[in-house]
This record gives sequence, C-alpha cells and structure tokens, in this order.
Amino acid sequence: MKKVLVATEKPFAPVAVDGIKNVLDEAGYTMILLEKYTSVDELKEVAASADAMIIRSDQASREVIESAPNLKIVVRAGAGYDNIDLTACNDHGVVAMNTPGQNSNAVAELAFGMMIYALRNGFNGTSGSELRGKKIGIHAYGNVGKYVALIAKGFGMDVYGFDPFVSKEDMKKDGVIALDSVEELYKTCKFVSLHIPANDKTKKSINYQLLSLLPKGGMLVNTARKEVIHEDDLMKIMQDRSDFKYLSDIAPDCLGEFQSKYPGRFVFTAKKMGAQTSEANINAGIAAAQQIVNFFEKGDETFRVNK
Ligand code: 3PG
Repeated sequence: MKKVLVATEKPFAPVAVDGIKNVLDEAGYTMILLEKYTSVDELKEVAASADAMIIRSDQASREVIESAPNLKIVVRAGAGYDNIDLTACNDHGVVAMNTPGQNSNAVAELAFGMMIYALRNGFNGTSGSELRGKKIGIHAYGNVGKYVALIAKGFGMDVYGFDPFVSKEDMKKDGVIALDSVEELYKTCKFVSLHIPANDKTKKSINYQLLSLLPKGGMLVNTARKEVIHEDDLMKIMQDRSDFKYLSDIAPDCLGEFQSKYPGRFVFTAKKMGAQTSEANINAGIAAAQQIVNFFEKGDETFRVNK
C-alpha cells in the first residue's frame, strides 16, 4: 500500500485535507499527515516511510529527499517550486511536480486586498485614493497575472503587461497592453504587481534602477517571492522616494527597518497567505493527490518540473 505524506508546516484548510484523503482512500493509499511541524528532523522522520509527498512552501531539501528511500514523487501543491531541490530529486530518481493555476485566483485577490488596504491608509479613516482609471503593470503574465488582469479590469484600471515568454497577441486577447521591456512597464505604471518565479536569473532582479522608474506614488505589490527583491536597493528607494510604497505577501528580511523608519508606507502579511483560502487549498491539494495517483497508476507525468 502506497504511503503519501502530506507535510504542511502551514496547514491546508481541514476541508482540503478531507478531499486529499478521499482521493488517496479511493486509490487504496494511506495518507500520513504532518502539520505545523517545527523541525526538519520531524519531517525526515515521517518522510522515511513515504512513497510520495505533498508539500506547500515546505523545504524539500536534499536532506529531506535523502531521508526518504522509497520516495518516487514530490508534488508542490502550488505554483512555485523553488523550495524543491531538483538536483537531489534527479540524483535519486524522484519526480517533482507542481499544480499550476490551482491557487492563482486566491493570490490575485490578495494583491488587490493589499492595494486597497494601502490606498485607504490602513482603513484609518483618512482620505485615500482609488484604483479606477489608474495604470497597473503585470510583471510576468502567468496564471496569477491573468487573474490580476481580469480583476483589474473589473476595477476599471488600464492594464499593462510584460512577459518575454508570452506572446503579445495572447495578452491582447485578454485586453492587456503588452509592453516591450520591463523598464517600460515600470515607467508606465503606478502600480506594479510582481509574478516572476524565484530562480537564479530572477533573484535580486527587482533593483533600484527598476524601482526608480515608477511614476510618482508608485506602489510595488509582491505576491511572488521575497528573494526576487534586491533588499538593499529597496531600502534605498524607500529612503530616496517618500512617495513609494511596498506591499508584500511575506515580510522582507529588513522588516525591522521598515517598521522603524517607514510606518504607513508598507503592508506585509504576517505569514505568506496569498494561497491561504479554502478554495485554493482544495484545488491545489486535491490536484496534487490526483497527480500522485495518476503517476503511480498510469505513469502520468503531466506537470513534472524536473525533466
Ligand atoms: C505558490 O507558489 O503556489 C504560492 O506561493 C503559495 O504558497 P503556499 O502553498 O505556501 O501558500
């Protein structure tokens, strides 16, 4: 009987866990649930008997992969798989997958929640401003970016996008004005919503040069990864431009400096929560369980990321 470890330091909604269990029960698999664990050792201990793993932002490091001799597949219930050591997976014949698109709407909605919270001055009763008629730039037009475009149109915003991997025609079909360069995007749009993955090419790529292009009152909304921000440059732009605000779904490492020097000019969630809705948990969790069953039963490797 296959054992599937669901290892979530930040748990799924209970209804999603039930859904995952149903899929696994039907296939005759056993679910091992490890939630809110506090050490890698705890994770390694249960991983030791797992044939498959479902994780969220949990670290599937080499150490964890190597603690699981029976492991054949690890599925990141979500989009970004920068938390999986793909080289370690390759070395041990482990298939790595993600579940693209399943939690995207939740992330996009949070981006707007943070923007409105910031524009209304933290709901403190003072006069704020509106999204309608403003320009929003979508930096990377993937699954989350598409939902951001859709919602932005509902708010009556002018929507721009930059993504070297998506054709201008595809963006145009969605009513998005595709720009030729990332610089043009930052220069044109007062609001920029960031959706690039964290990898060797993108880490620290959001730098002073780019941020300084934003028009007056510029706001960067980061529901992607904190690693893509050049934090020294971010602090410099905070200092040089008192009109600039930074909103992020997960605090930067330099949180203390923001709190002491720039109150009212940032919004950070307490814990990464873009995908933390029942709907997203159900979608991503059940998709992950189904992908594991399809992999073992049919050899289906759709959404494999370590080809
Ligand atoms: C993702 O990459 O799918 C999101 O960042 C969500 O991450 P989470 O599952 O840890 O909430």
